[in-house]
Amino acid sequence: MRLSLIVVLAQAIAIHLPVATALSPRLPHESLAGLTHEEVEEFARSVDIIGAQPIPPPLTDTSAKLVNDRAHPWRPLLPGQQRGPCPGLNTLASHGYLPRSGVATPAQLINAVQEGFNMGWGVAVLVTYAAFLMDGNQLTNLMSIGIKSLLTGPPPPAPAIVGGLSTHGTFEGDASMTRGDAFFGDNHSFNETLFQQIVDISNKVGGGKYNLSAAADARFLRIQQSIATNPTFVFSNPRFATAYVEAIFPLAFFVDGRSTEQALDLKVMRGFFQDSRMPRDFFRRNGTFDFGTAGEGVQFLMNAHPFFPGFNDGAVDNFVPDPDFLGNDTEILCALYHKFVNITVELYPNPRGALRTALNKNLDNFFVPVQAEGNCLQSHPFP
Ligand code: HEM
Repeated sequence: MRLSLIVVLAQAIAIHLPVATALSPRLPHESLAGLTHEEVEEFARSVDIIGAQPIPPPLTDTSAKLVNDRAHPWRPLLPGQQRGPCPGLNTLASHGYLPRSGVATPAQLINAVQEGFNMGWGVAVLVTYAAFLMDGNQLTNLMSIGIKSLLTGPPPPAPAIVGGLSTHGTFEGDASMTRGDAFFGDNHSFNETLFQQIVDISNKVGGGKYNLSAAADARFLRIQQSIATNPTFVFSNPRFATAYVEAIFPLAFFVDGRSTEQALDLKVMRGFFQDSRMPRDFFRRNGTFDFGTAGEGVQFLMNAHPFFPGFNDGAVDNFVPDPDFLGNDTEILCALYHKFVNITVELYPNPRGALRTALNKNLDNFFVPVQAEGNCLQSHPFP
């Protein structure tokens, strides 16, 4: 199966979002999806409205450099600070590249993933705005990288969106390598049992390190486990695609930039995944990680264990293929872009005023890397 990284990442946009219900009061980083106009107005009166902002520029110097430096020391988590399912963003927050609170703007996210890890500008913009349109607050321009804050009070009835990136069915999905499926309760905390699986596999096929072979086997094992145990397992796109890319990310970003080895020490890996911590003297990768850079790695994983997007149809061991899956890169990119726009309309059926302005601008921002990589026409759902 041919699947380039641009498609893989763009698939992050086609997401079946839960329909949010009305929540009040809201914190400034909570999504406004699903609220009535009156509720949005009420919220708007309680905060400073920032709205969408311009995309920050690419880095000029993309060489390897010390990033665990004196200006960015690791600090343990304080009460109220939020971390979530992404070890990359968790680490950036725990080293101060992102606000240590875990609540950030799109520009802060784009700058941090570039500066701290050398993620390519296009990838950073695409992933950030995909996530932000799903889980961010369009008026305050803030999003949580984690779970609901301890300050938000008791959880609302499902499927309201309160959390940030941990919200299941948005960006977060099933069969994560070190986090459990939402069906079993906790979809965002580091899971020791799952990490031990990675250790075992790396010892067996990676010579004691996490390499491409280990990534392929770990990714495949998690899929098999979810099929066998999670009746609600969804591994359709975009989760199918992001899951493969995320298995490459540790090799792309957590290996010291001075090394030429494509293998990650397991203690270092644990540091990132469990403690959100860079090793001492850590250098970021040399050169950016762009759409093309990881294509081979993703291809390696898919070739090692060919698989198809799909879902468990109401019971365990009942995996059916996703009928919507398309095989052509360009078509997929455009189809997913338009699907994403439609989902945004579902979430915000009739946005008005500042909310409409912010959504339009963030949709424009999201389209910038799509336009650069594909051949899609932009949609304007809120003219
Ligand atoms: C650009 C902004 C980013 C956003 C919005 C984002 C968001 C996410 C989310 C929501 C997940 C959870 C998916 C799931 O497993 O259900 C995730 C997983 C992951 N992310 Fe990120 N991420 C970003 C950048 C990064 C960076 C820069 C790195 C590495 C330095 C990274 C490494 C990972 C890894 C390794 C996983 C898989 C965790 C696992 O399967 O246990 N991400 N990311």
